[in-house]
Amino acid sequence: MKYKDIIEKMTIEEKASLMSGKDFWQTQDIERLGINNIFLADGPHGIRKQAEAADHLGLNESLPATCFPTAATVANSWNTELGEKIGQYLGEEAVAQKVNVLLGPGINMKRDPLCGRNFEYFSEDPYHAGKIAAGYIKGIQSHGISACVKHFAVNNQEERRMSIDTIVDERTLREIYLTAFEIAVKEGNTKTVMSSYNMLNGAYTNENIHLMREILRDEWNYDGVVVTDWGGSNDRVAGLIAGNELEMPTTAGETNKEIIDAIKSGKLKEEVLDEAVDRILDLIFTTEEVFNKPYKTEFDVKEHHQVAQEVAEESIVLLKNEGNILPLKDGIKVATIGDFAENPRYQGAGSSIVNPTVLDNTLECIEGSGIVSVGYEPGFERYGKKNQNKIDRACALAKEADVVLLYIGLDEATEAEGLDRQNMKIPQNQIDLLDAIYEVNPNIVAILSCGAAVEMPWIDKVKGLLHGYLNGQAGAKAILRIIKGEVNPSGKLAETYPVRYEDTPAFHHFPGKEVSVEYREAMYIGYRYYDSANVEVRFPFGFGLSYTTFDYSDIQMDKDGVTFKLTNSGEVAGMEIAQMYVACQSNEIFRPKKELKGFKKVFLNPGETQTVTIPFDDKTFRYFNVKTNQWEVEEANYTITIGASSVDVRLEDTIFIEGTNAPLPYDKEKLPSYYSGKANNVSEDEFETLLGRKVPVSTWDRSKPLGYNDTIAQCQYAKGGFARFAFRSISFSHWFLKKIGKRETANLIMMSVYHMPFRGVARMTGGIINMPMLDGILMIVNGRFFKGLRHVLKERSKMLKVAKGNN
Ligand code: BGC
Repeated sequence: MKYKDIIEKMTIEEKASLMSGKDFWQTQDIERLGINNIFLADGPHGIRKQAEAADHLGLNESLPATCFPTAATVANSWNTELGEKIGQYLGEEAVAQKVNVLLGPGINMKRDPLCGRNFEYFSEDPYHAGKIAAGYIKGIQSHGISACVKHFAVNNQEERRMSIDTIVDERTLREIYLTAFEIAVKEGNTKTVMSSYNMLNGAYTNENIHLMREILRDEWNYDGVVVTDWGGSNDRVAGLIAGNELEMPTTAGETNKEIIDAIKSGKLKEEVLDEAVDRILDLIFTTEEVFNKPYKTEFDVKEHHQVAQEVAEESIVLLKNEGNILPLKDGIKVATIGDFAENPRYQGAGSSIVNPTVLDNTLECIEGSGIVSVGYEPGFERYGKKNQNKIDRACALAKEADVVLLYIGLDEATEAEGLDRQNMKIPQNQIDLLDAIYEVNPNIVAILSCGAAVEMPWIDKVKGLLHGYLNGQAGAKAILRIIKGEVNPSGKLAETYPVRYEDTPAFHHFPGKEVSVEYREAMYIGYRYYDSANVEVRFPFGFGLSYTTFDYSDIQMDKDGVTFKLTNSGEVAGMEIAQMYVACQSNEIFRPKKELKGFKKVFLNPGETQTVTIPFDDKTFRYFNVKTNQWEVEEANYTITIGASSVDVRLEDTIFIEGTNAPLPYDKEKLPSYYSGKANNVSEDEFETLLGRKVPVSTWDRSKPLGYNDTIAQCQYAKGGFARFAFRSISFSHWFLKKIGKRETANLIMMSVYHMPFRGVARMTGGIINMPMLDGILMIVNGRFFKGLRHVLKERSKMLKVAKGNN
């Protein structure tokens, strides 16, 4: 232990007090021992430090900070150095705002395009997400503070995120859902990890010994702190035993007492608590060093805005460019149409909301850009139905122009933390507008603002398509610079765009049933599925166009990696993202057709050639063997492809790799879907064979009284009439708010009430409602109204007395 001397001086009460927050964002301090509190703040793409009212839903304003493009956007840059640069700028702002732990990056896999928080995550590929995240972490931590990689792990949906039990087989867990975290821990050296809300194979992640102890601590040698997601703690002592040191936010001392009682009863060993204290002290002491010396309390707003713009410029993806409609030729008359040009959609909703220092919008940026503008029309109502008047006005304007810049996308109520999207469509009123404009002027360049993949049945009606994703406070200018050709687009998609949602691998098993979600598709998510099952897609993983062309040649390979030549064969300077995929030629152990194991982004002037090397590493040939319970290498020939996307193969070579001679883990006959790759609708039997056990019952047991971990939504079948009435009122309010167009408020009900487990009522109210009071509430819910009410009142007055006594 590093801080043995201090720990020896601490009472058990003091030790326990460090295990949970002092308030919503800060840890506890112990003045007597010179231990200060530290501040934790969201979020991945900008600092959300709430100086006054605190919440984790993005409701109350935070101090102004640069809003960088969100993770889903930056992922398209495929530039790990850029990730590090963003991290450095984020870190600088965090220091200026006296934040010790920055709650990001978020690195969960995009298992399904509908996950409401995909905009906050990088990729459908773990290697890609891990590498970019490691960059962010290094950059943030270069300032002496801590990043906090989240949400560990398998938090791939928002629906029932605080209660859902994710059922996933061990190999998929390791290869797909944990690899990015492994890279963030081992290469990024993150000092803090946030456990997720959900359960993993029957245990809450923060209590999951396999995940937290065996993998994170023992295998990856992680010695930093694990913090719960806000309100995500269930059994505090079990969490601590698993190695989840810090619980956030405050529980007003309630769970400290549970820890103390557990020590007294022998349920918890004091060494375990000491170990946790030691790690928290290390986080406190190391991240406060920067504040013990003179430090910058301001940052250069202009410079940071400029960096946000550069990041956006490298991350925007050109998806279609028929007849080279882009870049716009000089003198071309342009009509700007679409509400997003006036009111940019530049970040997501929820805990990551940043209060930007400035916000560019297209209409202002067009002035002085050199673009000849004939005017602007909104064309549609962002949250409304079709408006023929607006369409007519937009068409009249479109007729006057040579080219229409059409700004469309998803609104902020559709992509938000706490709930998943209902479908992959953009609103019909925007498609109606596109159809109408197409009739009067088919020279349309669509500029898309959304944080995740959408269906594009309308794509034939646009000649140009630029996907800006959610590109931060300077995104509008970045887009215009690409439109004008001042910047050559170089982003490539970090997720596949399927033709239709029904084609997606988790379609039949997302978001699961009442209790659990079964990851029956196993490792076949994203391109791993489409590629292996030969499913046609709209845009493949790794796809993006440029204003120039690149030639690949002269592949050479040895045991250390692959080398090839890359030439800019076009007229303008540009950047190419070369991708290395690995395919095993043996089919003894099922695998995706190919997997990304390396990439490089290279800048080339016209006519320039560079030799590019992509090294092999410990992940290039490994697979997780469930028989030996460790990483192994299969002896086989491996095809190494270098591609401009996951399907655009430019170079190829084969290498023989010696294996580790591990026993074969599977019986081929029994896993036909996995061996064929057609894993989008695997039977329960076959999935159970893969899992090696029965799947748990996935629906609520309606015969049981409701308990701490049941959700408010389950009140629909509660014994207590009052609870059923409350449920109906909540459902009605949700329906009504949606009906009158208050979708964001309706969302809040879903996010913070409907799917909240009862224990969350105690965990999230900072001590206003404690667990004994919750017992009373549960009595009411379960049909003992008066007894429950008396219990609540009695416990409340007890709590008030204790509080008075303490003052
Ligand atoms: C989110 C976290 C966030 C935390 C604090 C939670 O609801 O899941 O990502 O860091 O709130 O705002």
